[in-house]
Amino acid sequence: MVIYNAKDYNDMSRKAANIISAQIIIKPNCVLGLATGSTPEGTYKQLVEWYKKGDLDFAQVKAVNLDEYKGLSKDNDQSYAYFMRKHLFDNVNIDINNTFIPNGLEADSKKECTRYNEVIKSLGGVDLQLLGIGGNGHIGFNEPGEAFEKETHCVKLTDDTIKANSRFFSSLDLVPKFAYSMGIKSIMQAKSILLVASGKSKAEALYKTIYGEIVPSVPASILQLHNNVTIVADDDALSIIKEKGLL
Ligand code: PGA
Repeated sequence: MVIYNAKDYNDMSRKAANIISAQIIIKPNCVLGLATGSTPEGTYKQLVEWYKKGDLDFAQVKAVNLDEYKGLSKDNDQSYAYFMRKHLFDNVNIDINNTFIPNGLEADSKKECTRYNEVIKSLGGVDLQLLGIGGNGHIGFNEPGEAFEKETHCVKLTDDTIKANSRFFSSLDLVPKFAYSMGIKSIMQAKSILLVASGKSKAEALYKTIYGEIVPSVPASILQLHNNVTIVADDDALSIIKEKGLL
């Protein structure tokens, strides 16, 4: 694992955007695995800025997202499809037909997960997978305790995740309780992985991810077994690692 220590959120966002831009420049028709959440917002903002300056071209880029809430339509403003259009797709020249995200409205979980696995395969796999990390060490919606070998599957969200996500909904009852998510196996098949983390609330998860045992109770710890992982994290997210003198 390569770890880049960013000063703060903005620095993390610029560094992460630089790595994604490099991927697009090196392989203009690359497949990007994308993530939602507050952490990558700044990264997308920076990519949009560089696109607007003429430094980046998304014309041939394909994007496949990690996850989507089950039950939300792509036009629901809390859906991840909506998030991606708002923060990236509507602001760059990516062909929307080259963007893929699980269909939250498909009620048949088996059908949707099989379809999504086929989509990823038909794209030839992911070149660069962007990941955030949950305070409990989850990646995508792979919650602690989930089997490492899963591909796209339907996840029952934990109470912690539902609570963390409730900040975006007007009441706890409206937060979806299930999601479709690429599994750990899908994530591990990406050719390279970029994990971004910011803030003290991620410090323990990040410490366990990098230096802890590889255990399903810390889903991100599996990344220790991937041969091309870059972590860009700010001072706060790296605080425990730094206190222990490990960086
Ligand atoms: P956040 O979520 O970026 O909103 O903190 C990350 C995650 O839960 O994967």
